[in-house]
Amino acid sequence: MNMDRDELMTLILDHYESPRNSGEIENADAFHEGGNPGCGDIIKMYLKINDKNIVEDVKFEGEGCILSQAGASMMTENVMGKTIEKIEKMGPEAITDIIGTDLALTRPKCATLGLMTIKIAIKQWNRKKLLES
Ligand code: FES
Repeated sequence: MNMDRDELMTLILDHYESPRNSGEIENADAFHEGGNPGCGDIIKMYLKINDKNIVEDVKFEGEGCILSQAGASMMTENVMGKTIEKIEKMGPEAITDIIGTDLALTRPKCATLGLMTIKIAIKQWNRKKLLES
């Protein structure tokens, strides 16, 4: 996505002030509370995954800096409707494609907190499924 700095800041602020997919999912299939130990900011990710391994719903709750919360909101939009396989292959470009590498590199832990929390939730979900099979 090619945005100038003002457009990018407007987008980030919009996600921070009006987070997409905000809230909790009761009986979520996958859940993880991720945090950035350096600052104490947190993201709780809830995912509903159907029997075709597609993310049917995703919500998050969190507290923290603008970039971590906006990044988490963006990542919920990004993974909604995707297969687990696709999400497992997602790397930092999932967020840098939106906010650009310059900004992401200045605050990598903030920028990727949402994505990493989703990936850990899925890893744990996979492990649980394996243990149950
Ligand atoms: Fe804590 Fe950004 S300062 S996640």
